[in-house]
Amino acid sequence: MYTSKITGLGYYVPENIVTNDDLSKLMDTNDAWIQERTGIKERRHIKKGDGNSTSVMAVKASTIALERAKLVPNDIDMIVFATLSPDMYFPGGGVEVQEMMGMRTIPALDVRNQCSGFVYAISVADQFVKTGMYKNVLVIGSENHSGGLDFTTRGRNVSVIFGDGAGAVVVSRNETGKGGILSTHLHSEGQHKNELSLKGPSTEHWVPQIIAENPQEDIPYYPVMNGQFVFKHAIVRFSEVIREGLEANNLEVKDIDMLIPHQANLRISQFIQHKLKLTDDQVFNNIQKYGNTTAASIPIALTEAWEEGKIKEGDLVVLAAFGSGFTWGSVIIRW
Ligand code: ACO
Repeated sequence: MYTSKITGLGYYVPENIVTNDDLSKLMDTNDAWIQERTGIKERRHIKKGDGNSTSVMAVKASTIALERAKLVPNDIDMIVFATLSPDMYFPGGGVEVQEMMGMRTIPALDVRNQCSGFVYAISVADQFVKTGMYKNVLVIGSENHSGGLDFTTRGRNVSVIFGDGAGAVVVSRNETGKGGILSTHLHSEGQHKNELSLKGPSTEHWVPQIIAENPQEDIPYYPVMNGQFVFKHAIVRFSEVIREGLEANNLEVKDIDMLIPHQANLRISQFIQHKLKLTDDQVFNNIQKYGNTTAASIPIALTEAWEEGKIKEGDLVVLAAFGSGFTWGSVIIRW
């Protein structure tokens, strides 16, 4: 068996900054409420005509990740693309990246695990590299939330939270013999699927039905979230899966150099930090600037932390996520 490591990483966010005050012009909300409940000050939204889409942003982030890995598109053996907001209903975004980056006819796998999507995607890449089947796997998380949110007061508990952006990493065979991805742990609990979901369009809520019924209140094509329920489960599962990963490697919380939690909500990150007794230096958050970018949030935060020199060779880096499904997971990395 081989081991795998992250050899390159990058992110891209649209230039268009949307502040809480901007949102309060569209719906009954305000900066104080949003900051107090979520920590978010602003987020990025794709602007009509700026050329961005989920796959275009994915390519921009991936191009940076490949450059840093000192690889060209032909070196990539597989794409694993996590998103809940693909450009098309089908096919998924992976094939669009394959085409736009001019890659060989390599496999392109789409992962649908929402906020846990990137952690699931890393785990898939890790398995393919560990077995020796592939040498370099491009792992992407990218989201265009602004194209599908309800920006009226009806949708305010959801729409103020989410932002657009993309992050990507290259998971490669670890030729150094040192460190790398030590473990991944993944979970799901489908009984809570309705607590954070978007019902249609789907085969259960297909387009003609949506048009025919045209429900004024129960609109199946906007996401719905039971915020307090999600919060309560998130704080339990985050801590559990971080400890599970550490224990599998005979490590302890005090060994963590950097925790990159999925940027769900600053209050959730702070709660986990407090529960695990981590210092401010051991946890990285950037939700204040970008909102919750779902599958993109971990690779964006990981890249920013790395660019700021907060992740160095030999550091123990922990990625952890929780989200719709519910699904959750952790990745333990010796950088
Ligand atoms: N602006 C102003 N008021 C609002 C807004 C808004 N954007 N959204 C909701 N409200 C109002 C509600 O209507 C409600 O009013 P009422 O008391 O008159 O009925 C009041 O604020 C309180 O609403 P709650 O939903 O109870 O607010 P809560 O304190 O739970 O905060 C929040 C909502 C921020 C969503 C919180 O539940 C939370 O953090 N949940 C975690 C879920 C989460 O972070 N999800 C992120 C995505 S999922 C993931 O990534 C894992």
